[in-house]
Amino acid sequence: MASAVAPILKIKLVGYEIDQDGLWKHSMITAMAAKSLCKKQNLPYGDVAFTAGLLHDIGKLVISIYVQEVGAYLLEKVTAANLSYVELEEKIIGFNHATVGGFLAKNWNLPEDLVQSISWHHAPSSAQYHSELASVIHVANGIASLLGIGGGVDSFLNPLQQEALDRLSLKESDLEFIMSELGEFLLDPTIFSY
Ligand SMILES: [Fe+2]
Ligand SMILES: [Fe+2]
Repeated sequence: MASAVAPILKIKLVGYEIDQDGLWKHSMITAMAAKSLCKKQNLPYGDVAFTAGLLHDIGKLVISIYVQEVGAYLLEKVTAANLSYVELEEKIIGFNHATVGGFLAKNWNLPEDLVQSISWHHAPSSAQYHSELASVIHVANGIASLLGIGGGVDSFLNPLQQEALDRLSLKESDLEFIMSELGEFLLDPTIFSY
């Protein structure tokens, strides 16, 4: 899966201020964080969580086409307004990248757990189904953003939702454990070479 999506995700996303390998690295770290979180909390989603992590921001590939046109305006607003980048996407474009990613996943006939977790990775409590997996991807995305790798401008103002942490029974020490495990993975220079 990683080798199949790597070439697609290695793209510069202008409006998001994401450089060439940024989305790919962010997606890979999110996938690894999701898998590690499931192992730590004994959740039965390891491989699905990894795949969902890889694909969670796929909607940015579509939305970036529009963001390019309004990118400068969004960038100015995201720092000035007390809104998340996702809320700004909704306000200005009408959709956010998570919803668009969910549409893509559905049209590609991906399983419902992937569709739901991609659609709701920024609002896991709103997922009607598979909200636990959506919470895993939400937290994994937050961890990847905290590590500061490749998330671009929307890494800011995207705090981890307490509700998602509670749902997964995650304490701060668990997050630290997962981050230190990721830190060890990151020592391997071949980790992103697909
Ligand atoms: Fe996202
Ligand atoms: Fe993300």
